[in-house]
Amino acid sequence: MAAQDETGWRLETRLVQGALDRSHHGETAEALYLTSGFVYDRAGDAEDRFKDRAPGFMYSRYGNPTVATFEARLAAIEGAEACCAVSSGMAAVNAALMCNLKAGDRVVAARALFGSCRYIIGDILPRFGVETVFVDGADLDAWRLALAEPTAMVFFETPSNPSLELVDIAAVAALAHRAGALVVVDNVFSTPLLQRPLALGADIVVYSATKHIDGQGRCLGGAVLSTKIFRDEVLHPYLKHTGPSLSPFNAWLLLKGLETLPLRVNQQCRSAERLAQHLEAHPKVRRVLYPGLESHPQYALARLQMQAGSTLLAFYVGGGKERAFEVLNRLKLIAISNNLGDSKSLVTHPATTTHSKLPIEERAALGIDDDLIRLSVGLEHVDDLITDLDQALA
Ligand SMILES: Cc1ncc(COP(=O)(O)O)c(C=O)c1O
Repeated sequence: MAAQDETGWRLETRLVQGALDRSHHGETAEALYLTSGFVYDRAGDAEDRFKDRAPGFMYSRYGNPTVATFEARLAAIEGAEACCAVSSGMAAVNAALMCNLKAGDRVVAARALFGSCRYIIGDILPRFGVETVFVDGADLDAWRLALAEPTAMVFFETPSNPSLELVDIAAVAALAHRAGALVVVDNVFSTPLLQRPLALGADIVVYSATKHIDGQGRCLGGAVLSTKIFRDEVLHPYLKHTGPSLSPFNAWLLLKGLETLPLRVNQQCRSAERLAQHLEAHPKVRRVLYPGLESHPQYALARLQMQAGSTLLAFYVGGGKERAFEVLNRLKLIAISNNLGDSKSLVTHPATTTHSKLPIEERAALGIDDDLIRLSVGLEHVDDLITDLDQALA
């Protein structure tokens, strides 16, 4: 069927119809090509595809039509030249770094990272002779000092998981480029809707599509967005030969997720802001961390580089782990789960789950105290969420 003219389409339209590639059946929903391989009419056709002399799919580890539709749609909304979808957010982080690094290289990263990202950078990369340096991501002087030496890659997430600390993307990208580094931003907490790292100077954006892009607790997925040359010459060869492929079925679910992404994320942000305000005024809450609150130490930066304060917030309940567990265990509507970005509201206790492997002094430096609770705000009515939190805190 003829390709659609996408020129001039607004974001919401592209999220629903972008890169639609209907088969000869004219199906309404995106076709699901649940196949591992592809056949060729003649032996020479296979040779032509393997030698890049003819377009076409060969094997789903290299590429698949449903996955390709998801990649093209996500690239268009991110404003990226290219996208590679992978099996999870961690596969995306790992591939974005490993495909480009070699022994002797140097990586500078923000200290406040999701536990598995920290493990890749702090534990795995040094085993392969990559020097890694962690800095306080909120401190531009620390970045300046660390980036005074030639560096291959810079990695950070903003806002960070779980303490919602921000990194000034434009300022760090400028410092990184002077040091010769490629900047990788994990944009999970912001989603493609709230923050545009590439427009602010980043080179590569990674997503756990498991989070807001699926956003309905159904499947894992990830994506790496980059220039076409990086994808073709560095990233895709690495993925093709190491194999963290996204299942076509998961790509199909993620396409359905993209259709409703603005409806969900905008509503979840509105509820998160309301809950952050409510909890900030609550006598049983010691402190709230939310980039959309004026009390956030980087509120001005949040206003500059984010469209809203995110769908997540974190708060300290005082009284240590026992009190935090008590609050979690008393919640009736909000479920205890370490996932995030879901249509169901979820709470987690980072100190004993996602960040439990960090040494205690590191946790303290990152503000991951024993009384910290992270809340991923879902699509339930905000008044029901307030009622549930109030009865749990009472
Ligand atoms: C900031 C961040 N990056 C990456 C990931 C990993 O994503 P996945 O679970 O899809 O591998 C997570 C998961 O929570 C995350 O919060």
